[in-house]
Amino acid sequence: MKRKLPAVIAGLASLALMVGGCSASRDAGTTSAGASGGAMDPAKTLVGIAMPTKSLERWNKDGANLESLLKKDGFQTTLQYADNKVADQVSQIQNMVNQGAKILVVASIDGTALDPVLTTAASKGVKVIAYDRLINKTDHVDYYATFDNYKVGTLQGNYIKEKIASMTKPINFEAFAGSPDDNNAKFFFAGAWDVLLPLVKDGTLTCVSNKCPASNDEWTKVGIQGWTSAAAQSEMQNRLNSFYTGGKKVNIVLSPNDSLALGIAQALEGAGYAAGASYPILTGQDADKANVLNILAGKQSMTVWKDTRELGSQVEKMVKEIAAGGTVTVNDTKSYNNGNKVVPTFLIDPLVVTKDTVKKSLVDSGFYTAADLGLS
Ligand code: BGC
Repeated sequence: MKRKLPAVIAGLASLALMVGGCSASRDAGTTSAGASGGAMDPAKTLVGIAMPTKSLERWNKDGANLESLLKKDGFQTTLQYADNKVADQVSQIQNMVNQGAKILVVASIDGTALDPVLTTAASKGVKVIAYDRLINKTDHVDYYATFDNYKVGTLQGNYIKEKIASMTKPINFEAFAGSPDDNNAKFFFAGAWDVLLPLVKDGTLTCVSNKCPASNDEWTKVGIQGWTSAAAQSEMQNRLNSFYTGGKKVNIVLSPNDSLALGIAQALEGAGYAAGASYPILTGQDADKANVLNILAGKQSMTVWKDTRELGSQVEKMVKEIAAGGTVTVNDTKSYNNGNKVVPTFLIDPLVVTKDTVKKSLVDSGFYTAADLGLS
């Protein structure tokens, strides 16, 4: 990313028109992309689902939900988790192809590492859907379904912007970003940074550790490899120990997701921060159960909820459309260039959840039961 993301996105628009021959954009509403060959009988069609890791709650939900939807539709399925190890994911996908999978749904670990195995898959006519994370630097990804990743970051940035409106300076601020090998992470960061960098530049926010990236392009400087809570915790501990001396307190922490927010909250707690008015604003994403409990306990301010059931239903629809041999529904043919091509995408809207909206958003919708969250 050489410039701000929206500029890049705008620049890609004409490319999308040339490459895809489709003229759809989100504004133009839902449309369909690319015919995919003859019809497949679900009962004879194996769908391979490759998920990154079981260590994060969301991927367990994603995998189980999608597998059960496809099974209900009569498809054969195989669901594999790769423990965040790229080589394991490659060999799992290879095995799926060897077993005769006709459609692959892949939430990649390293979005740039799959070209060789997907080239083999393509030679056997296998169709590939990138799930949640784009697969980069390959021609052999057919569709992408995800939440609007840039908007996730915008929602986090705007949340912080609203909260600081009533705060007095200095407002001490720390920024984190996601895993450098995850294509989504730069979109999350860009969405937030387009809101927050101007506030850093005009002195509204003080980057006490001096680690704030000077531009969107430099986001990997604050990236946490593998999205682990442990690495986020130790980075936050380091910053608190080195820069927050003599009673100085951090007021705002931009965390791109819940696994990082969990580690950051632990570091804060270890440094003596207690829930209450002086607890820092801390953002997140995913509405993982532990984080929703933290939100209710005042140890995290918000999360950006991505209803994995909605993503599952969208991907289920794509799988059925591919199997039927017709067109596949997408609503964005501009934003996601994987380095080789613009991948036809279906984007879903994410939603902010705070303490006040946990019940309405997460319980009333059945994502959690009241008992799950200790609310009954
Ligand atoms: C997903 C996030 C998730 C993160 C860590 C990203 O690609 O979009 O929802 O928090 O990976 O697993």
